[in-house]
Amino acid sequence: MDLAQHSSNQRKLQRHPIAAALLDWYDAHHRELPWRVSPRALRAGVRPDPYRVWLSEIMLQQTTVEAVKSYFARFVEKWPTVDALAHSDPDDVMKAWAGLGYYSRARNLKKCAEKIAFEFGGAFPSKASDLEKLPGIGPYTAAAIAAIAFGRPAPVVDGNVERVATRLEAVSTPLPQAKAQIRALVEAILPPDRPGDFAQAMMDLGARICSPKRPKCILCPVREPCRAIRIGDPELYPVKAPKPEKPLRRGAAFVAINGEGAVLLRKRAETGLLGGMAEVPTTQWDSRRDGHTGIEGAPFPAEWRHAGRISHVFTHFALELEVFRADEIAAEAPAGHWWSPSAEINGEALPTVMKKALEAAIPGATRRSAKRQEAK
Ligand code: ADE
Repeated sequence: MDLAQHSSNQRKLQRHPIAAALLDWYDAHHRELPWRVSPRALRAGVRPDPYRVWLSEIMLQQTTVEAVKSYFARFVEKWPTVDALAHSDPDDVMKAWAGLGYYSRARNLKKCAEKIAFEFGGAFPSKASDLEKLPGIGPYTAAAIAAIAFGRPAPVVDGNVERVATRLEAVSTPLPQAKAQIRALVEAILPPDRPGDFAQAMMDLGARICSPKRPKCILCPVREPCRAIRIGDPELYPVKAPKPEKPLRRGAAFVAINGEGAVLLRKRAETGLLGGMAEVPTTQWDSRRDGHTGIEGAPFPAEWRHAGRISHVFTHFALELEVFRADEIAAEAPAGHWWSPSAEINGEALPTVMKKALEAAIPGATRRSAKRQEAK
């Protein structure tokens, strides 16, 4: 046995049996993801690109893997390096982000790219404690980048990992109080030799096997040590403290259309909810204020017709908007507004709530323009 083989075996021996079983499972069953370097490639010496790892982790905060894939592909095609992103137009970044939600992530993404490119010479720091100082990078993301991009043994705990860990140990403390206990558990299992693969194995197990409903325990590589299975009902975990109900806000949205079929849009204030995104004129509806729900809230007099009602759920409140439509508006766009031609609607930085409002007023508006754009 040569020396390299010997020390590799030594490291394997140091693995917690749960980590060992998980890594073997990951080698055989990992998901192929556009930002991921497979275990085989890692062994062959391919190194993950910290830019791609960072970008994917920011996108994956609050968003599913399936939803992120196409956004990730568009971002890396448009901005293949952190340097390219740092030099981009912020409005283009907002447009490329539109639909992913939680828009402060996009603003911080740009700020972080600028910091890395202009202050750090284009190189991401590798330690979680340094990464955490950057805009938009919290403890979870810092640990994920440190482990996945740089192979540092940082405990990575997201929702999937919380579920896997609380089931393994049958943690009866409800979330969020159980967080410290979960972190300690993950630290105790964490293998020193493949921390990035271990983090991703926990995530993949949580997504594919240890799902919130009807987990596929029969296929699970760690069903032997799993206490939740022994208790008989893994779905009991994680125990969650009941969530307070979200307040309901109301308002009205106004879809004005000119003779050419263009829609009147404006840009929201740079800070606050959906900061810097595009919207149709609306009444107030932020987390503190209801707005008018009828045409008395219209931005200007016109033949407004009620076109429907849409709902959208934000982090801190639910929103109901009455949607009104008026056609053949002949006016110039007021200051801070612009007429957006129907073929260009899909390229605007419209958040999902505004796409819903447009769809209520002009069925197919966002889909039709998407097709036209693809055909270009
Ligand atoms: N969710 C968050 N980060 C992830 C990753 N790196 N792989 C799979 N799912 C994830």
